[in-house]
Amino acid sequence: MNRSLAIEFSRITEAAALAAFAWLGRGDKNAADNAAVKAMRFMLNQIHMDGEIVIGEGEIDQAPMLYIGEKLGSGMGEVVSIAVDPIDGTRMTAMGQANAIAVLAAGGKNTFLRAPDMYMEKLVVGPELNGMIDLTLPIEQNCRRAAQRLGKSVTQLTVAVLAKPRHEEIIKRIQHLGARVMCIPDGDVAASLLCCLPDGGVDMLYGIGGAPEGVISAAAVRALHGDMQARLLPRNQVKGDTAENRKIAEDEIRRCHENGVEVNTVLKLDDLAKDDNLVFSATGITNGDLLKGIQRKGNLATSETLLIRGKSRTIRRIQSTHYLDRKDAEIYQLIGE
Ligand code: FBP
Repeated sequence: MNRSLAIEFSRITEAAALAAFAWLGRGDKNAADNAAVKAMRFMLNQIHMDGEIVIGEGEIDQAPMLYIGEKLGSGMGEVVSIAVDPIDGTRMTAMGQANAIAVLAAGGKNTFLRAPDMYMEKLVVGPELNGMIDLTLPIEQNCRRAAQRLGKSVTQLTVAVLAKPRHEEIIKRIQHLGARVMCIPDGDVAASLLCCLPDGGVDMLYGIGGAPEGVISAAAVRALHGDMQARLLPRNQVKGDTAENRKIAEDEIRRCHENGVEVNTVLKLDDLAKDDNLVFSATGITNGDLLKGIQRKGNLATSETLLIRGKSRTIRRIQSTHYLDRKDAEIYQLIGE
């Protein structure tokens, strides 16, 4: 991807984070998500590109979406495929809690796995553990292998896991092994990044989360030379085998087949993010382990963005100041309060 185009994507997550921030702590997940989606869509349409959403948010939690197949940009120029999560941490945003980010990954026409919005089992590690993970092995074995490669005891290993009821058993198993578990209420994209960044404080991420978040994480993991394996899981295997979930699962499996991908099959990093022609951008909404959140004083707002370019492996941290009272900038009319 053209270098100058790559930088454009930092503006997209900045706008989404600013829009989401207006809904901080107001208890309304959908309004926050809606605002971020609108801002993202508006900004993506300003870019000179032939863009398409290949994996996005929406169906898992019925949030307003940038839907799969949606065309964005001027419709001319470079063909760009986009994986979006306008807010990773909608609940955290609505409840005024830490670690919410606006995030996306963009790449070439066939860079990303195409899959519906469904669940995905993920195992992520940083560059030192590249080639050392195997999702078909029990978590204990992956932990032992990781500790050995890192030259430390398993008691010094830190594994991030989403704190969801479905993970209670796995959390106990990891703790029983002696490793530390960092339970995160939501937001497995930021935690995946922490595995790959020096001083991230996390050695491994394991658990079941959203597939869009998985593909977006894979973009950054690839750019940072970490490693990841994943498996698409039908809803009835994750949320209970009810008639309703079985129906949703059938639809997910059908749509996976349309995209040439199988559920319950191990996907390697190369299947999730197929080449280095990609960019990852995340902007903090609330303060977190990865990024500072939006700070706002009247019409002045500051943001912090992490922009990673796959080809050069450059990691940029962009601190921006935004004057939201600019009448000439249409995007600021979309950003509330
Ligand atoms: P959203 O804020 O987009 O809903 O995602 C939060 C999140 O915790 C993701 O980081 C994770 O991948 C997914 O939800 C897990 O799904 P669920 O909340 O259904 O368990």
